[in-house]
Amino acid sequence: MAQITFRQADGTTQTVDANIGDSVMRAAQDNGVEGLAAECGGCLTCATCHAYVDPAWLVKLEPASEEEQIMIECAIDVRPTSRLTCQILVTEELSGLVVEIPASQY
Ligand code: FES
Repeated sequence: MAQITFRQADGTTQTVDANIGDSVMRAAQDNGVEGLAAECGGCLTCATCHAYVDPAWLVKLEPASEEEQIMIECAIDVRPTSRLTCQILVTEELSGLVVEIPASQY
């Protein structure tokens, strides 16, 4: 297990226990975190799992694939820290990861 913290646009946070190997999106859905609709179920065709990764953690992630980079462009309010949470796989090293859910996704 790894702990992932989701910060909502209103500043509230929710920390969940995520299974190693699951995506961050799956951890959010399994724990009722709002704001990550993930309409395509992780098939990299919707961008509704878009979130901002805390800059301190961004460098610890595997770089976004070309396919993810293309799909991020379809998201609203993209920032340099934008990632698609269905493409971030939970590892023990990522325990403590903080992601912020964009206000545009409510
Ligand atoms: Fe659709 Fe991530 S869930 S792109």
